Amino acid sequence: MLTPQINLFKKSNPLQAQVLANTRLTPEPGKGKRPSKEGDSAVHRITIAIDHNTYPYMIGQSAGIIPPGVDPEKEAKGSADPSYTIRLYSIASPSFSFGQTKDNIEFVVKRDNVYDENGNLLHKGVCSNYLCDLKPGDTVTMTGPAGKKFLLPQTDFSGDIFFFATGTGISPFFGMVEELLVQKLINFQGNVWLIYGAPYSDEIVLRDYFEDMSKNHSNFHFVTAISREDKNSFDGGKMYITHRAKENAESIKNAVNGNGKFYICGGPKGMEKGVIQEIISACGTDLSYDDFKKHLEEKEQLFVETY
Ligand code: FAD
Ligand code: A2P
Repeated sequence: MLTPQINLFKKSNPLQAQVLANTRLTPEPGKGKRPSKEGDSAVHRITIAIDHNTYPYMIGQSAGIIPPGVDPEKEAKGSADPSYTIRLYSIASPSFSFGQTKDNIEFVVKRDNVYDENGNLLHKGVCSNYLCDLKPGDTVTMTGPAGKKFLLPQTDFSGDIFFFATGTGISPFFGMVEELLVQKLINFQGNVWLIYGAPYSDEIVLRDYFEDMSKNHSNFHFVTAISREDKNSFDGGKMYITHRAKENAESIKNAVNGNGKFYICGGPKGMEKGVIQEIISACGTDLSYDDFKKHLEEKEQLFVETY
């Protein structure tokens, strides 16, 4: 059984690691379904060389990245340490890497940019652009691992597992699906539901991987919610993961009653409320939102990482 180790590397003693690969997963600007007036959505898969003996991470944990250079705001304030604040990124590779090679760590990162109503770039996120611009051979400064709650069961498990992702919230579920269904580190007998929301159908990243998984594993259910293409059948508005939850209320209820687990990851921050509300409605409980959320968390049935 693995146990999470945290903060082995800190800002004062970070790890230097080398980039192995960096691939864009979403269409190039103007080549996909996104209208140019909505700017660009650049999501990258980034692979970094890591010796697991040095950096023993578990899928579900995050890693810290320290962007190079100085933060102009901190510098202007005369800060004693004007270096950039650490940014966290969910680890996307399984605990022993894809192929169980134990020699790398992967991330799914979106350039966090702001565009005006005509699609012109207004602001660029510091760390996400730094990561998405990295080339093989570049060196990255890392901290962590971070987090000890958002983890898969570590012993035999027969309940159903629901993964709810929006945008880059897909990152931990990539490695979790692989670890549960392919690497089988534990004896898992339940169903896995991946309910994944993105604005456009060609921005569902790693689609081929998940579609192959659903062809090869009858207990894997891959459900997408394409907000800017599909309409939901409840009020005719955008299709969100919450609507997919409503459509699958019976399976959700069975999962809650069968000691199943619910993981919610992605943005915008607070989006978990809608999903948890759907779990509550599916169960028909009289408990308030806060009480039911607490109840599920105490029973280790609910895990939220939204940002
Ligand atoms: P920042 O430079 O910090 O900027 C933040 C935002 O402000 C950006 O949208 C930027 O465009 C905007 N901005 C910049 N300047 C201005 C200005 N003057 N006025 C208005 N707006 C401005 N992200 C991922 O992509 N993948 C993950 O797997 C992932 N996992 C995460 C896990 C956790 C636990 C947490 C907490 C966060 C995670 N994130 C993830 C988010 C990530 O940590 C960063 O917050 C994100 O990449 C933005 O950081 P940045 O340095 O690029 O942007
Ligand atoms: P939309 O932006 O069309 O309103 P990304 O991070 O790539 O933008 O993807 C986030 C996805 O989550 C988008 O499809 C977005 O829809 C959707 N979304 C936004 N707010 C919520 C919410 N409160 N609940 C569920 N999904 C949401």
